[in-house]
Amino acid sequence: MNEIASIFESMEYGPAPEAAQPATDWLEGHGRRFGHFVDGAWTKPGETFETAAPRDGEVLAEVTQGTDGDVAGAVKAARRAQKGWVALGPEGRARHLYALARGLQKHARRFAVLESLDNGKPFREASGIDLPLAVRHFYHHAGHARLMPEMVPGRTPLGVCGQVIPWNFPLLMLAWKVAPALAMGNTIVLKPAEWTPLTALAFCDLALEAGLPKGVLNVVTGDGATGAALVAAEVDKVAFTGSTEVGRRIREATAGTGKRLTLELGGKSPYIVFDDADLDSAVEGLVDAIWFNGGQVCCAGSRLLVQEGIAGAFHARLRDRMASLRVGDPLDKAMDVGAMIHPDHLAAVRAAVAAAPAHAEVHQGEAPEGCFFPPTLVTGLQPADRLMQEEVFGPVLVSSTFRTPAEAVAMANDSRYGLAASVWSENVNLALGVAPKLRTGIVWVNGTNMLDAAAPFGGVKESGFGREGGTEGLLAYTKDAAERPKLARVAPATGGGGPADPLDRTHKMLIGGRQARPDGGQSRPVFGRGGGHLGTVSLANRKDVRNAVEAAGAAKGWSATSGHLRAQILWYLAENLAAQAGRFADRIDAMAGKGGAQEVEDAVSALTAAASWADKFDGAAKGVPIRGLALALREPVGTIGILAPDDAPLLGLVAPIAAALAMGNRVVAVASQAMPLAGTDLIQVIETSDVPAGALNLLTGDHAELAPHLAGHMDLGACWGFSPGLDAVVEREAARDLKRTVVTNGRGRDWTGSMRWLLEAATEVKTVWVPYGE
Ligand code: NAI
Repeated sequence: MNEIASIFESMEYGPAPEAAQPATDWLEGHGRRFGHFVDGAWTKPGETFETAAPRDGEVLAEVTQGTDGDVAGAVKAARRAQKGWVALGPEGRARHLYALARGLQKHARRFAVLESLDNGKPFREASGIDLPLAVRHFYHHAGHARLMPEMVPGRTPLGVCGQVIPWNFPLLMLAWKVAPALAMGNTIVLKPAEWTPLTALAFCDLALEAGLPKGVLNVVTGDGATGAALVAAEVDKVAFTGSTEVGRRIREATAGTGKRLTLELGGKSPYIVFDDADLDSAVEGLVDAIWFNGGQVCCAGSRLLVQEGIAGAFHARLRDRMASLRVGDPLDKAMDVGAMIHPDHLAAVRAAVAAAPAHAEVHQGEAPEGCFFPPTLVTGLQPADRLMQEEVFGPVLVSSTFRTPAEAVAMANDSRYGLAASVWSENVNLALGVAPKLRTGIVWVNGTNMLDAAAPFGGVKESGFGREGGTEGLLAYTKDAAERPKLARVAPATGGGGPADPLDRTHKMLIGGRQARPDGGQSRPVFGRGGGHLGTVSLANRKDVRNAVEAAGAAKGWSATSGHLRAQILWYLAENLAAQAGRFADRIDAMAGKGGAQEVEDAVSALTAAASWADKFDGAAKGVPIRGLALALREPVGTIGILAPDDAPLLGLVAPIAAALAMGNRVVAVASQAMPLAGTDLIQVIETSDVPAGALNLLTGDHAELAPHLAGHMDLGACWGFSPGLDAVVEREAARDLKRTVVTNGRGRDWTGSMRWLLEAATEVKTVWVPYGE
C-alpha cells in the first residue's frame, strides 16, 4: 500500500525494458560476423572491425572493412543487374518495393531493437518513428515506381547509384536513399556508417527473403575510406547524407566526372518563438526539436531564438521540462533520451559545451554515467558565438533573444547552413509572413521535425542540394531520356587583319544597368567566318565578375516581384528581340556561317516560353499523413552565374537567362566565348525592355579565366557552366560554399524543347509545413 502511495507521489515510471532477443537472435544467426552483401549473397568476412552498443559498450558484431576491390565488385554486380531491373517495368519494380515495405513491417521489432542497440536511440523512437517512416517510404515509392511514366515523363534511370549514409538514422536514411533509387530503375551500392552498419545488413536479409533480384541492392560496410572508394568508383550518381565537411570533399572528388550528386548535410536550425506563441506547445516542440534522437539530427532545432519579452518565462518553463526528461538505457521504454552514438562523439559534444563563453549560462538535466549526455540549454549567447554558429549534433540547445520579427529573420538567416526552421506564433499572418523570408529548405509552422515520404526534404546554402522525398526527389534519380550530340567548343574565327579601326568601337558589357568598360582595359577582335572584322569585345576579369555579382546582389527587388510582372518584362524582351530579328540573324550568320534566322526565332520562342512559365511553374501541396499540409514552394536560387555555350550563341544565352529571370533569379551571364557579339547585341534589347538595373548583367571574355571566379563566388546561388571543358573547374570551385551547379556532363542540351529542366535548376523547393484541418 505504502509503495503504491509513494509511486503516486513521485509519478516516476518504473523500468520497462524491451527484450533484445529479436535482434540478438538475428545476430547469432550470422555468428555475429558479417561480410558484404553483393550480387544477392553474403561475401566471406574480410578484415573486420567491431560495432558496439553505445548504451554499455557491448560488442554486437564484427563487420568487414570494405576495400577498393570490394567496392568495385559490388559496383560491377549492380551494373550487371541494372538492365534486368529496368526490364521489370514499373509494375514489376513496384511489387518489389511493396514486398520490402511489407517485410519491414513484418520484422519491425527486429529492426527497431537492432537500431536501438546499434545506435543508442530509445527503442520507443526506433519503433514509433524510424520504422513507420521507413515503411512509409517504401510504400510511397512503390507507388512512384508504379507511376513512373506519368510522374516523370521522358526520364530514364541514371544507372548505378553509390549511396553513403550516416549513423543517426541508419535504417531510415537507407530507406530514403534506397526506395527512390530503386523505384526509378537504378541499382545500388550502399555504404552504411561504420558506427551503425547492422540494420543495413539486416535489410539485406530482408531483400533476400523478399526475392529482390540479385545485384539490385548491394551493401558494402566500412569507414570513410570505403565511402571514398565508392564515390570514386564507376557509379553514375552519388547520394550522400552526413557532415558538410565530407560533403564538400565529395563535391570536389566528383567534380568534372559527370556523376550526379545530391548532398544532404548539416544544419543549425533556428527555432523561433514569438511572444504570441502557445508557449506550452512551443516547449513541448523543443523536446522533439533538440532532444529527439539526442539532438543527433541534421534538422534539429538547435538554435532557439525567443522574443525578448517572454524569454525569462520561456526559459523557466523549458528548464522545468528538462528536469523531467529521463536519460538512460535506450531499450527502457520509459526513457526519453538514449545513449550518444559513440564515446568519441560524446567527447566532442562535451568539449563544445565546455567551450561556452563566459557570458553564457549553461543549464543541464541529469544523465547516468557512460555514453550519455544530459539535456543542455545554453542561454545568453551572442549571435556570433561559436555555439550559436556551429553544429554540435547533440542534446544541446543554444538560445538567444530577439526584439522584432525582422530581427528574428536576420538572426535565423545568420548561418552558413540552411536546412530547416521552426516558427511558433498563434498569429497566422506573422508566422506565414516570416516563413518566406527564412533561407532554409524546410519551415515548420507551429511544429518541428515533421518528415514524410511525400514531402521533399533538403537544404540550401551549406546544408547541401537536391531533394529527397516526393516527386521532387525522383528527379535526382533520373535523367532526360533523349540523347543529344555533345556541346562542342567552337574555335573563334580568325581574321585576315584588315585596317585597324581608328575609333574605339569596343562593345561594352552590361553591369548594374550601365554599359561598362572592362576593368583591365583588355579587348579582342571578333572575326566572321569569312575572315572579316566584325567588332571588338571586352575581356572581363575577376573584378568585373565581382562588380556584376555585386550589382546583381543589389537588385533584390527582382526576386520579390510577382511572376505576373516578370512575365510582362520577358514578353516585352521577346517583342523587342523579334523586332530586330533580321539584324540578329545577320550577325549570327556572319559569326557562325549559317542558321541565324532560325536561331533568332528560337531565342524569341525561349523568351515567350519563359514569360509563359513565369507565373505557372508552381509548387504543390502534399497530402501528408499528419495533421497539416506540406507546401512544396519554388523559390529562386539567388544570383545565377551562366557561362553560355558556343553551339547556339544567341539561343544558348537567351534560354538560360530567360528561365533564370522568369523564376526571380538575378543573372550574371558570360556570352559565348567564340561568338560573343550575340551577347553584346542583346544589351541594347535588354536596355529597352524594362529589365531592372542589375537583375541581368552581361559580360564577355575568356571562359576558362572567368569560370573559377564565377563558380567560386560566395554570393552566387548557382553556377551554370554550358561551356565545354569547364565542368571540373565549375564543380570544384562551387564546392567552396556548395553552390548548385549545372554543367555540360559531356551531353548536349535541348534549347528548343521543354524548358522545365532549366526552371527546375532555377528554383529550389522550400517545404513549408502548415497546420491544416483538425
Ligand atoms: P561523416 O560525414 O564523416 O560520415 C557520414 C558517412 O560518410 C559515413 O558513412 C562515413 O563513413 C562516410 N564518409 C566519411 N568520409 C568519407 C569520404 N571522404 N568519402 C565518402 N564517404 C565518407 O559524419 P561523422 O564523422 O559520422 O559525423 C561528424 C559530424 O557530421 C557530426 O558531428 C555531425 O555534425 C555531422 N553529421 C551530420 C549528419 C546529417 O544527417 N546531416 C549525419 C551524421 C553526422
